[in-house]
Amino acid sequence: MAGRIPDQFIDELLARTDLTDVVASRISLKKTGQNYSALCPFHNEKSPSFSLNPNKQFYYCFGCGAGGNAISFVMEHDHLDFVDAIETLAKDAGMEVPREQGAPDRYEQNAELLKRLSESSQFYQEQLTQHPDKKKATDYLSKDRGLSGQIAKVFGLGYAPSGWDNLLKRIGTRAESQEQLLHGGMLIEKKDQPGHYYDRFRDRIIFPIRDSRGRVIAFGGRAFGDEKPKYLNSPETPVFQKSQELYGLFEAKQNTPVLNQIIVVEGYMDVIVLAQHGITNAVATLGTSVNSQHIRKLFKLVSKVVLCFDGDKAGRSAAIRGLEAALPVMKDEKQIRFLFLPDGEDPDSLVRKEGKEAFNNRLEDASSLSHVLFDHARNQVTLGDEEGEAQFTRNAMSMIQQIPKELTFRSVLIRQLSEQSGIDSETLGNTSVPKQRPAANNQSDTQNTTTNEHATHIGQDEAHYAPAYDEYDNYSNNEYTSAPSHYEGNKKSAFKKGGKFNKFKEKEVYFPPAPTSLSRIKQASLCILFHPHIAKEIDLPDPLVNQANDELQIFCKIWRYFSKYPQKNTGHLLGEMTDQATISSIYALLNHQDATTKLKITNAQQEVLDMISAMEKNLGLNSSIARLKSKGNESIKDNGSKQELRNLMDLIRQKKS
Ligand code: UTP
Ligand code: MN
Repeated sequence: MAGRIPDQFIDELLARTDLTDVVASRISLKKTGQNYSALCPFHNEKSPSFSLNPNKQFYYCFGCGAGGNAISFVMEHDHLDFVDAIETLAKDAGMEVPREQGAPDRYEQNAELLKRLSESSQFYQEQLTQHPDKKKATDYLSKDRGLSGQIAKVFGLGYAPSGWDNLLKRIGTRAESQEQLLHGGMLIEKKDQPGHYYDRFRDRIIFPIRDSRGRVIAFGGRAFGDEKPKYLNSPETPVFQKSQELYGLFEAKQNTPVLNQIIVVEGYMDVIVLAQHGITNAVATLGTSVNSQHIRKLFKLVSKVVLCFDGDKAGRSAAIRGLEAALPVMKDEKQIRFLFLPDGEDPDSLVRKEGKEAFNNRLEDASSLSHVLFDHARNQVTLGDEEGEAQFTRNAMSMIQQIPKELTFRSVLIRQLSEQSGIDSETLGNTSVPKQRPAANNQSDTQNTTTNEHATHIGQDEAHYAPAYDEYDNYSNNEYTSAPSHYEGNKKSAFKKGGKFNKFKEKEVYFPPAPTSLSRIKQASLCILFHPHIAKEIDLPDPLVNQANDELQIFCKIWRYFSKYPQKNTGHLLGEMTDQATISSIYALLNHQDATTKLKITNAQQEVLDMISAMEKNLGLNSSIARLKSKGNESIKDNGSKQELRNLMDLIRQKKS
């Protein structure tokens, strides 16, 4: 599994793979002329808008904008990452995936350790059905927590009996495996007897924590009663960085038929109880607040994320951290919402009390990001006058500025703020407000003074939680010197989170490689591709048509086609066009990560017209400059012309920045 997959191999694989086979083995396709059509697997629909072009080996959904080749289809359909999708396709094609020389990845490096963790999980599950004291565990699960045997199985729940060496004796039979269990956080070394170990998890219900591919990477163990800590978790290990993982993600992928939304809750039990009630798409952070990495990870899988919080003060301030984590990783086609539960309830208690439907209704009514943002900006205001209004505007702007510049979503929020504050969008857009510390946040949150996502991720983790958590969770083994009764204890670790295991961070692979933002011309092209009927309402002035600019040429071609054939759609255009370069450019456009933002807009025509007039203005500016310059330095001596030139230059500079 080590090393990069050579590009050449990927080309070869695509050449040997027939997209039609790949898709037909997963969904049912209907032949329609030269193409195939189907009900789109990526969104819910009643009539087919998914279309596949076997000649071009490309699919596209006119409903949701999903599109791409065999690799992207398998990624999206099977919920796989790029490398796994390649492996899947290669297997079908009977090809071996070659790797360029490179360092082995962290899973390869730790293959043995992962095996021990998987065996440990197996062991704990067996104890649940075989141990003489199993009734204690099964009664707790079924009677106290109302879990079915089936759901316990889905989540691989287990039982760690009391005793100091149950696991050690079963899995750590060799010195080597003991070492691995130690590295995996399952054993703790006795301080007074170096080289001797005891089980970390004793007399607890065991929750295996799986990574998104289903590999057991850590455990959480819940006490049966009020013992402290309530939940004992694996420490950070080479395969487990708790701030990066989400409990239940693998299970959600496995058990949710159409996974297009994920709910983020706080606890293990919340995830499991929701799943038992048929809400299988919940995941939990592992004793940390939700961070940017979590959200980015979820956005790769689904387009909607709902963050679920308690209705109390702690919940509200956790929501603000969620908001701050979300802003820098927002995307136009993604949605994040906030669900605040009634005080004193968690998803576990609430879904048991109200049932699935009521909980789903709450999800439907969850607050939008903009609602939470403006609400928060308003709550921080201390004055009731113009000063207060200015405060509100600054607060809101300081958050809006964390949203990537190129997003339409950002402009929309600026426009909303403009409506609320009476300051025009352009002025707002040009102001730069220093990032402020959200006043409503916990005092304990002081370490998090910047909101770049890294800081959000590292700084906030334990803020919301009682200090006890990291005392219990984060210690390194060799700090423990006391007798077993004190072993689970109260020493604060010097362990630095975030830094230590960064070298294990997996390289991210993106597909398809797309520029991060779309130029205005490309956006206008997409507007016409998605709303072809507007073409006939639009006039293109000759000077623009005659421009050599490639992007503009493509735009003109699209515009020309649809002004001539207003009844046709993008499928027709792609089917009928013969110029390969243009076709590729259009596919690239449709395949762009931000393409779908133009799908549901109602002002497509205006957007195209705006682009055209901006282009014209630019042309005008350029020719004015040329005219002034051609007068020669002599003639620009008069102040009027000088000022005109300066103004024009300023305008152009502004446009470029
Ligand atoms: P909660 O204290 O809200 O517990 O912790 P819960 O999920 O409602 O648990 P039950 O219903 O009493 O069993 C939420 C999450 O915080 C982490 C765990 O991940 C837990 O699921 N936590 C909590 C710890 O890591 N350690 C603790 O001691 C407590
Ligand atoms: Mn609970």
